[in-house]
Amino acid sequence: MKGKTIVLGVSGGIAAYKAAELCRLLQQEGATVQVVMTAAAREFITPLTFATLTGRPTLTTLFGNENESPLTHIDLAARADLFLVAPATANTLARLAHGFADDLLSATALAVTCPTLVAPAMNVNMYNKDSVQANLATLKQRGWIIVEPAEGELACGTSGKGRLASLEVIVAACRRALSPQDYQGRIVLVTAGGTREPLDPVRYLGNYSSGKMGYALAQAAWERGAKVTLISASQLQPPPEVELVPVQTAAEMLAALQERFSDADLVVKAAAVADFRPRAVAPQKLKKNGQIEPVVELELTEDILAILGRQKDKQLLVGFAAETENLLTNARQKLKAKKLDLIVANDVTRPGAGFGSDSNVVTLIYPDGSIKELPRLTKIEVAHCILDAIRILPGWRKTGQMGGAI
Ligand code: CTP
Repeated sequence: MKGKTIVLGVSGGIAAYKAAELCRLLQQEGATVQVVMTAAAREFITPLTFATLTGRPTLTTLFGNENESPLTHIDLAARADLFLVAPATANTLARLAHGFADDLLSATALAVTCPTLVAPAMNVNMYNKDSVQANLATLKQRGWIIVEPAEGELACGTSGKGRLASLEVIVAACRRALSPQDYQGRIVLVTAGGTREPLDPVRYLGNYSSGKMGYALAQAAWERGAKVTLISASQLQPPPEVELVPVQTAAEMLAALQERFSDADLVVKAAAVADFRPRAVAPQKLKKNGQIEPVVELELTEDILAILGRQKDKQLLVGFAAETENLLTNARQKLKAKKLDLIVANDVTRPGAGFGSDSNVVTLIYPDGSIKELPRLTKIEVAHCILDAIRILPGWRKTGQMGGAI
C-alpha cells in the first residue's frame, strides 16, 4: 500500500470506533489515509480521533472544510487510489446504491474512479432486510467490493450476521483491490510448513519449517486474484479468504494435492517435506524400559514434486530447494529431476533466510539454467517476486483455462 491514498468513509454505527484501529492498520501498511465522516458517525466517535491518528484534518462536510478546496469531494476523488466505507450503515448503503450526493461521503463516492469497497455493519435483522440486501446487490453489480459482515454477538445484544468484518479481512480486501489482478482465474495450490511423520502417539520426526514462506505465497497469489488453496502442515492462521487444507504427513500432503491437481494451474511447493518416516508407527508410547539404544527403522516418503512432475499436463510446478551447501548445483539438479518450471534456491544457513525468519534471501533458477538473485526481502516481497517470475514463464499462457471461480 506504499504511496497509495485510501479515502476511508466512516458512517454512523457503533462499529465506527473500530475504524480508528482500521485507520492505523492501513497506515502501517504504508497507505496515506484521509478520513471522511458522516454526521451520524460523529455521534459515535470524534473527528479529532482520526485527525490525531492520520495527522490530517478529518473531513466532515461538503462545504466549508477549513483549508480545503470548495470542491472537496472532487479533489478527494482525484487523490483516492481506493475508497473504503467502513463501517457502512444501512442508511449509507441506501444512499450509495441510489446515488445520493448531499453529504461529503456520498458525493465523493460518486466522484471516485478508483476501486470502491464497503464493509457493512448493523443489526442482523436490518442486515437481512430485503431493502438492505437489494442495495448491496446493486452496489455489487456496479462493481463495489462487499466485505461481508461476520457472524457473532452484536452490540444490540442479539447475535447473527452483522458484525463489521474483522479488520484483518478488511485490510486484506484493500490489498487485493490495490493489486494487479494478473492471477485472476488461476487456480493455485500452495504447500507450506514442515511435515510431521509419527513415531508413536506422542512423537514425530519433523523439521524447523515455520510455514511463513508458503503462507506469504498464498496471500500474495490471493491478492493478485487467484483462487488459492493452502495445503499446510503449519500451525499458522491462514490468510483470510484462502482455503486451508490441514495435513500432517507427506502422504497426506500428496493425497491433498492429487485430489486437486487436475484443476490446478500452478503448484508452489514451499513445504519442507520429511524425506523419511518411521517404517512402523508404534500404537502405544514407546517406553525406555530395557531399550537402552533404540533403533528406529526409516523408509523414504513419497517425493511429492517428482510424482507431480511426472503427472503434469498444463500445470506449472514450482519447487523450493533448501540447501546448506552447493546451493546452485543442488537446486539445478532438483529442477531437472522433478521436471519443474522454476526452482527457488534457498541457502537456509544465511542470516535473514530460511526457517522461521520473516525475511528470505533466494535465487530463482529457470529450466534453461539462467538465474535471478534476489536481495534480502520480506517473505511477502519474495512471494510477489516469485509470482512475477512465474507470470513470464513460457507455460503461463496455457494456464487459466479452467477459469477458477473467485
Ligand atoms: N519435496 C517433495 N517431496 C519430498 C521432498 C521434497 O515434494 N518428499 C519438495 C519440496 O517441497 C521442495 C522440493 O521438493 O519444493 C525440494 O525439497 P528439498 O527438501 O530441498 O530437497 P529434497 O528433494 O528432499 O532432496 P534432499 O533432501 O536430498 O536435499
